Amino acid sequence: MKTKYQVQTGGKLYLAGEYAVLTPGYGAVIQFIPIYLSATIQEASTYQLVSDLFSYKVDLTPNKDYSLIQETIRLMEEWLVDQGLDPKPIALHIAGTLGEKGKKYGIGSSGSVVLLVIRAMAALYEVDLSPDLLFRLAAVVLVQRGDNGSMGDLACIAYEDLIYYQSFDRAWLHEVLTSQALSQVLALDWHYQIRVIQPAISYDFLVGWTKEPAISSDLIRQIKGAIKEDFLKESQVAVKNLEKGLLEGNQKGIKTSIERADQNLKALNPLIYTPALKELQQATDGLSACAKSSGAGGGDCGVALSFDPLETQTLIERWTEKKIEIIYQERIGDS
Ligand code: PMV
Ligand code: MG
Repeated sequence: MKTKYQVQTGGKLYLAGEYAVLTPGYGAVIQFIPIYLSATIQEASTYQLVSDLFSYKVDLTPNKDYSLIQETIRLMEEWLVDQGLDPKPIALHIAGTLGEKGKKYGIGSSGSVVLLVIRAMAALYEVDLSPDLLFRLAAVVLVQRGDNGSMGDLACIAYEDLIYYQSFDRAWLHEVLTSQALSQVLALDWHYQIRVIQPAISYDFLVGWTKEPAISSDLIRQIKGAIKEDFLKESQVAVKNLEKGLLEGNQKGIKTSIERADQNLKALNPLIYTPALKELQQATDGLSACAKSSGAGGGDCGVALSFDPLETQTLIERWTEKKIEIIYQERIGDS
């Protein structure tokens, strides 16, 4: 066995389908963001867990700050035993916070940490994990913790790609985990969908940061009661048309879908679009580019797709004037 291994995981941002994707059967389109957390792992005589987020080390004694990491280790140890392996104490160091020095971008930190710990342990024990198994193991950790998200972040970060994601029933998974062994649960059909989308069109993908931190789980709690059939149907049309538009390289179809998703979220609850997110979106007025809030809203980031390099410059200038910081930019579809 090699002594020390290093692994990494990225982040994600929603393009469309937020809130609707919480309901099984409704989808979202999610973009992978290559801003990374990294971890080093090695065997040790006692457990030593340290994350840059906190200023102290722990072992496996339950600790509030480290509970996500500790529970992921427990789950992976159970899985490794099922694979006939004999897990030993580890020294694990998690570096990076998915946001520069204390800035929280909201691109997926807790989901990313779970995936990172799983990848680290798989590396140490030299087992290959498919993106799908990685997703399932991470989803078990979060569902057992009572996380109220759709797990779309896990799907996107595990696949490291632009994806269409449709959730499974988390209450069902929680239930089967109480009555069946992990290996049995992992072998069941969970009825989610994950499809990688390869856009047949090139565009600039821009991420604008509002500098306002938002907590997705709190927003979900406040907003989920407003999710009704009409909202779900409209979201699904926008998401399906967006996937189709991307696959067919239909610029107009993409723009119309992002606009529909934007309008639908604006009508869902006023907490989603803060004044800064409204400005971020309105900065595309008069352009062929389109923009919207990303994720739960209430701050964090918005995204834009710009099909024309000159418009990209205009959009960047408009965002900068409004104090919206561009934290990530990528030319998609040029290969
Ligand atoms: O704010 P984010 O990027 O964590 O996205 C949340 C998206 C929701 O649909 C509102 C919740 C979820 O987990 O799907
Ligand atoms: Mg967010």
